[in-house]
Amino acid sequence: MSRVAYVNGRYVPHRQASVHVEDRGYQFADGIYEVCTVRDGVPMEEKGHLDRLERSLREMRIDMPMSRAAFSLAMRETIRRNLVTNGIVYLQVTRGVSPRDHAFPTKKIRPAVVMTARNAKAHPAAWIEDGVKAITMPDIRWGRCDIKTVGLLPNCFAKQAARENGAYETILYDDKGVVTEGSSSNAWIVTEAGALVTRAPSNEILNGVTRLELIKLAAAEGLKFEERSFTLDELRRAREVFVTSASSFVMPVTQVDDKTVANGKPGAVASKLRAALMAHMDAQVAAAK
Ligand SMILES: Cc1ncc(COP(=O)(O)O)c(C=O)c1O
Repeated sequence: MSRVAYVNGRYVPHRQASVHVEDRGYQFADGIYEVCTVRDGVPMEEKGHLDRLERSLREMRIDMPMSRAAFSLAMRETIRRNLVTNGIVYLQVTRGVSPRDHAFPTKKIRPAVVMTARNAKAHPAAWIEDGVKAITMPDIRWGRCDIKTVGLLPNCFAKQAARENGAYETILYDDKGVVTEGSSSNAWIVTEAGALVTRAPSNEILNGVTRLELIKLAAAEGLKFEERSFTLDELRRAREVFVTSASSFVMPVTQVDDKTVANGKPGAVASKLRAALMAHMDAQVAAAK
């Protein structure tokens, strides 16, 4: 099967898919993106991802290049043409092509829309049964981390540091020692007192679609939940640590830097929430069939 990409309204062979050298996404990271999990060929949390895509574009002052219905259709067609059953679909919108100038073009230009989709392997069973390692690093990103821009270099540095340290993720903290989020995930703890905690949305973090769904699922499970910042010290003393994202789902963290989290096994809250999220995704698949 040869892969296909969606580029500005056309489905083209993946190998030949390209945008112009003066696309502002290429030159200035002047664009935004979304990643949706695909289960059984169905994009998960489509509404949440399209809501955030619209919000990111609004904050960037980029016009919606097409309707939500058209996005939805193209996303499904990209999934279908790439024979994706379980994997991801990637959507990217940049401001468009214009002679290089830092300021926005005065002439109205068409935003560039790109989509790709691919199958992905299931997480190794050991990650879920034993948990994964996270390292911590200072957060060196900009002041608008709430916008899902393609400007991800600090996130790339942080993920590379994780790889080089045999870790799954890097959890970032600000100059006051307060945890912001993971390099490509939201960070959660269960405190020594048993409260489930994740940071409130602000300009410092991306408001994860998984995060939003998990807050609802935690309420349905009757878990004690606190939406607030927590420190590196609380992270190190936590009874449970986990990270969430569209592609990590709920990933239990059992080692932070060189310290084992609690007894070194994934906790009951993370396991319960992971199961609830999986059931919620199964329900979305069933509703779409
Ligand atoms: C920096 C950052 N935070 C949080 C998330 C989690 O967001 P979502 O649950 O919508 O995937 C991501 C996902 O890529 C991310 O890049």
